[in-house]
Amino acid sequence: MKKINVLFVCLGNICRSPLAEALFKHKLKQLGLEDFIEADSCGTSDYHIGDPPDSRTLANARRNGITIQHRGRQLSKDDLNRFDYILAMDESNYENILYLGRNLNIIHKVSLMRSFEPDAKAREVPDPYYGGERGFQEVFEILDRSLDGFLDYLKQKEGITVSPKPAG
Ligand code: 4NP
Repeated sequence: MKKINVLFVCLGNICRSPLAEALFKHKLKQLGLEDFIEADSCGTSDYHIGDPPDSRTLANARRNGITIQHRGRQLSKDDLNRFDYILAMDESNYENILYLGRNLNIIHKVSLMRSFEPDAKAREVPDPYYGGERGFQEVFEILDRSLDGFLDYLKQKEGITVSPKPAG
């Protein structure tokens, strides 16, 4: 069976999208879906190519029981062809993705991450880069809800049935 490829995209690829990727992979493992669905992340900018995630993102993830292993990389046209689902953190990322793919038929696979969050209070995952610690926890909680919603959508759309692994 062909694996489903999911790409999370933000601006710098050091705060929001690497956390989304790591949290999504954590959820895939819990559901026993890691052999069926793959995930990666990248940024629309070239600001942090090769960099580890922001230290505040790493600390926040650790506090929430999530380990992140990623180095910053920039979105490419090849990504737009290769990935089945492309999830943008905010409207600016979304527009930049569509612009890079303007000669490709990709609109059907690009979505805003928060469009999967039940009862979302806003359309964007806010950029925590210039804010304080609370912003990072807010991003974590938004991503947690949005990713659960996305997984429900994906299971239904792709006809995936889940038998959770026993704990421990
Ligand atoms: P991210 O956050 O897009 O969630 O990774 C940012 C990281 C770096 C910058 C902006 C946003 N920057 O301007 O360097």
